[in-house]
Amino acid sequence: MNRETGVQSDGDRIYEPDYVPGHASGDRPMPENRDEVPDSPLPLVALDDPHLMPAAKNVKHTERWIAFLIVLASLGFAGYGAVYWQGGQPQLEGLTLGIGLLSIGAALAAWGKYLLPRGPFVEERHDMRSSDTEREQMAAAVIDRGKLVMRRRGFLGKMLAGAAGILGVVIAFPVIRSLGPLPKLALDKTNWRKGSYLVTIHGRKIKEDDLEVGGIITVFPPGYEGNAMDQTVLLRASTSPFTTKAGRETWTPKGYVAYSKVCTHAGCPVGLYQEQTQQLLCPCHQSVFDVLDGAQPVFGPAPRPLPQLPLMIDSEGYLRAQQPYDQPVGPGFWERS
Ligand code: FES
Repeated sequence: MNRETGVQSDGDRIYEPDYVPGHASGDRPMPENRDEVPDSPLPLVALDDPHLMPAAKNVKHTERWIAFLIVLASLGFAGYGAVYWQGGQPQLEGLTLGIGLLSIGAALAAWGKYLLPRGPFVEERHDMRSSDTEREQMAAAVIDRGKLVMRRRGFLGKMLAGAAGILGVVIAFPVIRSLGPLPKLALDKTNWRKGSYLVTIHGRKIKEDDLEVGGIITVFPPGYEGNAMDQTVLLRASTSPFTTKAGRETWTPKGYVAYSKVCTHAGCPVGLYQEQTQQLLCPCHQSVFDVLDGAQPVFGPAPRPLPQLPLMIDSEGYLRAQQPYDQPVGPGFWERS
């Protein structure tokens, strides 16, 4: 006999499904929703068993308080999400998230303290290891009783799930937002077009006699002066055309050659030109590119050549792009074999 619960036991611990602890079978009312009570071979416990009664004196009153706290938590989480979505304000974010977390913590604590079965639960020591059948029965009974307890507070459970869902969504905001805007095609293409004039940072068009051999200038397509991804170095390596790579025989009229100024290592501007060695140098990590060999990297961490802009000189003597860059400019995002 269990002193606390009055549960009777026999050697096999097998009871009838309508057994009520502490009372002879059938002399005590069963739980109200008996149809919902799982069919367990172990003794069912009456809902009015004193050990299963919640600690709260006024259960309805306590439930209302817990519901209020969960609603407050939901509003706090939603408020945090709204503030973050609007651009963020650290104090407000802290306040709303704090309200949400404190409220849901208080709700869970109150639920556990006042609404769950008060106990105490005592089980007499048994002699030997239970049989497999008993263990399976006990596992099933524990699960069944757990469901029974949760069914009593179904609406609070749903509210709690809703608050947790809101928190889960808003907590993802900072993670997603910290990734920044989608680059879309902005990183794949520049503003160079077929026939674009080469202009200085001040918008002045470059003519065929503007640079001496050994000269260098940074150029842009018209309307995009200063644009980081369009910046291009224009060099005059000789007075006559030369071929940087097979298939590029017409890209260097009168010895002019143009390469993207965005380093293929980490995006620094490649602006140092050594005429004697015909090399371009990136000042950030000292990558060196061979001007006469299609800006092939010959030293440093740059993994690929600077893209070359095909040039032509029009009938008025202006330098223009034959066509856009045939590949994306810039660093390793576009790494290819
Ligand atoms: S950015 Fe040019 S070498 Fe690193």
